[in-house]
Amino acid sequence: MNNYSLIGPFKQLLTMSGLPLKGALQDHQLPLIQDAGVLTEDGKIYAVGPFSDLQIEARDLNARILPIEEDMVCFPGFIDAHTHICFGGSRANDYALRNAGKTYLEIAQTGGGIWDTVTQTRKSNSAQLVRGIKERANRHLQQGVTTIEVKSGYGLSVEEELKMLIAISTANKALAADLIPTCLAAHMVPKDYVGSPEEYLTEISTTLFPILKKENLAHRMDAFIEEGAYSPSTIAPYFKKAQEMGFDITVHADQFSTGGSAVAVEFGAVSADHLEASTDAEIKLLANSNVIATALPGASMGLGCNYTPARKFLDAGASVAIASDWNPGSAPMGNLLLQAAVLGTFEKLTNAEVLSGITFRAAAALGLKDRGKIESGFLADMVAFPTQDYKEVLYHQGMLQPSMVWKNGKQILAQ
Ligand code: NIG
Ligand code: FE
Repeated sequence: MNNYSLIGPFKQLLTMSGLPLKGALQDHQLPLIQDAGVLTEDGKIYAVGPFSDLQIEARDLNARILPIEEDMVCFPGFIDAHTHICFGGSRANDYALRNAGKTYLEIAQTGGGIWDTVTQTRKSNSAQLVRGIKERANRHLQQGVTTIEVKSGYGLSVEEELKMLIAISTANKALAADLIPTCLAAHMVPKDYVGSPEEYLTEISTTLFPILKKENLAHRMDAFIEEGAYSPSTIAPYFKKAQEMGFDITVHADQFSTGGSAVAVEFGAVSADHLEASTDAEIKLLANSNVIATALPGASMGLGCNYTPARKFLDAGASVAIASDWNPGSAPMGNLLLQAAVLGTFEKLTNAEVLSGITFRAAAALGLKDRGKIESGFLADMVAFPTQDYKEVLYHQGMLQPSMVWKNGKQILAQ
């Protein structure tokens, strides 16, 4: 027998339904239901509407009533479409060096940077990696993030990348939040690899890709296209192979120099992420494509550099998602809501644009069609804040904490 539950009433419910995937949004477009309820069926949303209407339906369905006693504003569970929360060690030293004037690339060349985390991650055993992922994912969940993309990319050999992706899969099974794994074996050229970058990528694609498929460990392939990492021409055959095998493509693009976004468009990537260095040409290119432009304000805050020109992307007609990039190097903070709110302040984004960036537009960046909106048939992933007005949430820039979080209809946080 199906299990129905009626949750509510919420003072305001922002369903995010009916909003366009691409382009600028105004707050008056936000679909907002006052004194609303959500009727769930076995972890999915069955019906949404005024609470009093749903009470009648709930009676007929013999639904459990889960009353909300205080004023609450409810959103779809937040989605973080770009993280690196599987890692060992810390890069506090890099952070201090950067703040003392060294650049990201200089630090990478002198023993810090991504390679330092590779060394520390390789030293970590599986149980330590799983523990780290769980701690970070659970912190995210407390803040209303119910779906979290997690990349490998600190292993940089077939064996070590597998260790990371298995750790992500193990953590996923033990967590309430959903983890979406991505293989980032092309994060940088491993310093200890004997052979050319092309040979390394060929080894990964011929040896690792089939295992990932067979063991269902990842269906997304990412690469860091940047000076000091991979060039567009080196990555093209790798992405071609990945695509032939059915992997979705996503790209670390235009972080310090341009080039990555054109590759993302060429391969019909689901998303191009970073884009701090994108100029009008790249903005136009991405806006005229179906690639989601994912801004990573946490990396701008961690590195002390400019934000992704999200305003320009939206005005050009692009779809903008906002993700944390939570990683030990460039984005150690890992607070998605705070970062999204601050990006809104600097880039002059409306509430509607910021909230879309961490809900349905983030879902699109992950190719997920079952979440990011509160609508019939979608997963009952929701977050509720103790306030009467949705605008209070971004206004407090991450300091207003959720009181309640639901994942697949199950309440996992109640304060
Ligand atoms: O998304 N840009 C490349 N990769 C990460 C940083 C990883 C690191 O510094 O450890 C990023 O910012
Ligand atoms: Fe990243």
